[in-house]
Amino acid sequence: MKIVSIVGARPQFIKAAAVSRKLRENHQEILLHTGQHYDYEMSGVFFDGLELPLPDVCLEVGSGTHGAQTGAMLKAIEEVLLAEHPDCVLVYGDTNSTLAGALATSKLSIRLAHVEAGLRSYNRKMPEEINRVVTDHLSDVLLCPSDAAVENLAAEGITKNVHQVGDVMLDVLNWAKERADAKGKELLEQFGVKKQGYLLATIHRSENTDDVERLGEILKAFNTVDEPIIFPVHPRSRKMMNEMGFRPGRNLKLTEPIGYVDMVALTGSARCVMTDSGGLQKETFWLGVPCLTIRNETEWVETVTSGWNVLVGKKVDHLADMVKNIAPPAYRPALYGDGAAAAKCVQLL
Ligand code: UD1
Repeated sequence: MKIVSIVGARPQFIKAAAVSRKLRENHQEILLHTGQHYDYEMSGVFFDGLELPLPDVCLEVGSGTHGAQTGAMLKAIEEVLLAEHPDCVLVYGDTNSTLAGALATSKLSIRLAHVEAGLRSYNRKMPEEINRVVTDHLSDVLLCPSDAAVENLAAEGITKNVHQVGDVMLDVLNWAKERADAKGKELLEQFGVKKQGYLLATIHRSENTDDVERLGEILKAFNTVDEPIIFPVHPRSRKMMNEMGFRPGRNLKLTEPIGYVDMVALTGSARCVMTDSGGLQKETFWLGVPCLTIRNETEWVETVTSGWNVLVGKKVDHLADMVKNIAPPAYRPALYGDGAAAAKCVQLL
């Protein structure tokens, strides 16, 4: 088969790394990068670190409002699909690149497959939720990471060609673990921290970064935590923090966004992670590190019900106490598959 895979934002490079490797064993893949993320720390570092093949097509769409960004991608993706005539298009996750890819593909009556189908936060204020709902309803093959995702689709009347394959991010994590172990010691020294002697934080969701008051509360809470915090700052957050004139406290170690293998190393050695990232909620779980999720709800509900992930919700001012008192149970169930999701995706395609 000839398959066009569409990526554009950081988590998609990670997911594509798992599937591309498998896909290219027997099929022709054209990797299309929309350019939604373009800084080296947000894009190039993942192609280097994950040994992902370089994109065959780069649209260099860049930043913009949701409409402008998605519209520019839609137009450019359509041109590529018209020229390439693929058998199938593969989209990942829930970004504007996913939505644009899904719209362009389905309007041309090309088969559309969605990796990470069926996730829902049931919060339509999240741009990602809109992207998920539309993409799932347009998809011909729905590749779900969990039983809950399959159930979410069924509740919306989507039951045909729905498959629970597990999470491709577990495949990538397993690939990266050994490499991360080899780099761990040096990285911790670089940040001046000890294994289990620090926290790791990330913030980038628009609900947390676009509202100055909310972001201010989160940063204030970080400054009150009595342990070192490594905080790789997403460009969206960096921009806001600069505008607010934020001054980090003595425990807060700000850094540029970090590549995947280094991030796995820093996550695995952290005492606890504070984040609003979907990927990190699972990675912490798989690595046995407790997580505080700075959101009101999550799509990865199983991490919460297992006791390893706690939703901070509106109680940001209690973050320092929550970090101190977090105590996950001894038992950690196997969640989101067996680390062989990519092979299942390719077989189903
Ligand atoms: C996007 C996705 C989100 C995903 C996240 C991973 C949407 C709606 N959201 O959010 O689902 O979890 O990526 O990071 O698609 N910027 C740079 N350099 C870059 C990339 C972005 O400076 O390399 C700036 C942009 O100018 C923009 C901001 O960061 O102001 C946000 O970028 P955007 O692509 O809108 O979404 P993300 O917040 O990254």
